[in-house]
Amino acid sequence: MRKVPLVESIRIIGRGSLNWIAKRPIVVSFEVTDSCTCYCRHCDHGGPKDDSANLKPGDYRRYMDALRPCVVQISGGEPMMRDDLVEILRNIKAGDGLPYTILVSNWSLMTEERYLELHDAGVDQFSVSLDFPDERHDDFRVHPGLFRHLSKVIPRAAHFGYDDIVLNSCITSANAGEIAAIAGKAREWGVNLCYSAYSPRRTGCRDYFLNTPEQLALMNSGLDRVEAMRDKTNWIVNSRSTLDATRRYFECGGTPGCKAGLRFLVVRSDGMLQPCSMQFHQYPLEARNQMVQEFTANNTCDQCYVSIRSYLDKSFPQLVGENVAEFLSLSVREQA
Ligand SMILES: C[S@@+](CC[C@H](N)C(=O)[O-])C[C@H]1O[C@@H](n2cnc3c(N)ncnc32)[C@H](O)[C@@H]1O
Ligand code: SF4
Ligand code: SF4
Repeated sequence: MRKVPLVESIRIIGRGSLNWIAKRPIVVSFEVTDSCTCYCRHCDHGGPKDDSANLKPGDYRRYMDALRPCVVQISGGEPMMRDDLVEILRNIKAGDGLPYTILVSNWSLMTEERYLELHDAGVDQFSVSLDFPDERHDDFRVHPGLFRHLSKVIPRAAHFGYDDIVLNSCITSANAGEIAAIAGKAREWGVNLCYSAYSPRRTGCRDYFLNTPEQLALMNSGLDRVEAMRDKTNWIVNSRSTLDATRRYFECGGTPGCKAGLRFLVVRSDGMLQPCSMQFHQYPLEARNQMVQEFTANNTCDQCYVSIRSYLDKSFPQLVGENVAEFLSLSVREQA
């Protein structure tokens, strides 16, 4: 995985330290639309939605000025459905390279031209969802032809050599046996890989959680094989400690200690704040402190272990230490 240049790394650590002390979020996820090109089986989005109340590109500057995150995720729904995505990026990115910006997308609308355009507009990391290493991906995402499209466009985009593409694979009961094969696909396509964990909180459905000893054994043997593939290039973006915590999340049925609302938050497409994408308590931008007092201080939810949590549940010394030790120039390694 591409290392962030040293000067930018220092800026990220500097702003992160200030935010930690000032109790501002380290990571903000902008859900720029609720509409989507897919109808994934594990997700509560899917298909077209009413986009009439979406924030305009210029509105994002006000959020950036108030929240000053060092890492931004641009997500959705499917963010590439916004024709003005480049304009949104220009309002999020400042001249100093901050924030480190991750585009979380299913890549159904990605082309080589758009990849280059978004790269030039300031995307630091392209997170591409992949649930299966073959056409079963189309079935899970209810999008015929998606895998074939990815298998063409991902290697071509990787060929530009920016080393900024990360496959994002959400572990479910449906793909627990494919964990190592998905890693093989990332290698074949010349890109990086990050695992995330299914949460039943999004849809209320427990069927895609790992509910049986057989499913847990499949996950563990898959992750053991992935651990054996690690090398110094950090193409497996999750740290070993994060993958161990992912195993425990499934084994224990949850992970307590969530800092949603404080260390990270979601800005909905209409501009309201939420603690995370699966908690629907909404606050206007000006009431962020109220969200921390009312929600974060009393939050007992342990119902996900998406990567944003695995990253921000850590203490600040651990967070900085792990990144500096392995990646400085710093690499921001995980996304939701
Ligand atoms: C909500 S999507 C939004 C961005 C884009 N549409 C995509 O699929 O990448 C972001 C990520 O959330 C993951 N996701 C969806 N439902 C989930 C669930 N129930 N638990 C954990 N992750 C989930 C997806 O697999 C995807 O990688
Ligand atoms: S996971 Fe992403 S692509 Fe799938 S329905 Fe949800 S928002 Fe759309
Ligand atoms: S554990 Fe935290 S981030 Fe996950 S669903 Fe619950 S409140 Fe949201």
